[in-house]
Parts: sequence; structure tokens; C-alpha cells
Amino acid sequence: MKNGKFAGVLVALCLSAGFGQALASEPEITMFKDPGCGCCGKWAEHMRANGFAVREVPSREMSAIKRQMGVPERLGSCHTARIGKYVIEGHVPAADVKRLLAEGADVAGLSAPGMPAGSPGMESSIRADQYEVVSFDRAGNATVFARH
Ligand code: CU
Ligand code: CU
Repeated sequence: MKNGKFAGVLVALCLSAGFGQALASEPEITMFKDPGCGCCGKWAEHMRANGFAVREVPSREMSAIKRQMGVPERLGSCHTARIGKYVIEGHVPAADVKRLLAEGADVAGLSAPGMPAGSPGMESSIRADQYEVVSFDRAGNATVFARH
């Protein structure tokens, strides 16, 4: 009887620990990338290191995918990712994605336009650019979200 009660408490503890972990993990990212591009995989590694599960989908139709997903052409980078209702374009730091998810902003997504040296997946020993991460809406309007 005593043992049974102890086991019950243990099970409850394990369940609550597991539940806490499920809450802490981030939603899965689906990343579309050109099969010939290497920096995308490095960005995926950066996101995994920050708690995201990333599924990589190679595609040779990246401009069509960007158009379909509503990435304004002038904000384009290499890879295009979907996380929940948001689109993440290019080398956006995981911290910015987490902030976006936490705030739940009414935007279409975030972009780090171009390929800024020093951004996650674009690490360079030679230089680190200052760059902006912008949020954009479905009409293509962009607003500065973070500066790095
Ligand atoms: Cu890139
Ligand atoms: Cu790339």
C-alpha cells in the first residue's frame, strides 16, 4: 500500500516533468532550400541548437516557393521556412523567431534580407555585418524587428 502510493507520486512527477518539457520545446520548422546551398543547413543547425526541430526540404524552385509563401521579392534570401503561421526568410537568429512566437504578432513573417555576414549560418572570421531583421505583412510592408 505504502509502495503503491510512492509509485503513484513518482508517476505524477514524471508526467509533470514530461509535460513541462513538451511545453518548452518549440514548434517544428519546415525549411525549403536549394540543394546546392550550404549556408541553409548551417542555419538549420543553429535553430536545432536553440531547441527547434527542423525538417529540410530541398527544392530547385525556391523563387516559386517564396512567391507562394508571400515573401516580398526585395526581402529575399536563400532558404524559406515555415513555423506555425509564420514564414521565416533567410538567416534570422533563433532569438528573434522565439520573440515572434512569444509575442504572436499579426505579421506574415520575418526576414533577414540578403546574406549578412555574421548572421547565424553565415559566420565569418573575416567580417560581421550589421544587419536588420524585418517583419513583413501580406501586402509586402516591412518594419524593423531587430538590429544586429
Ligand atoms: Cu544563406
Ligand atoms: Cu543557403
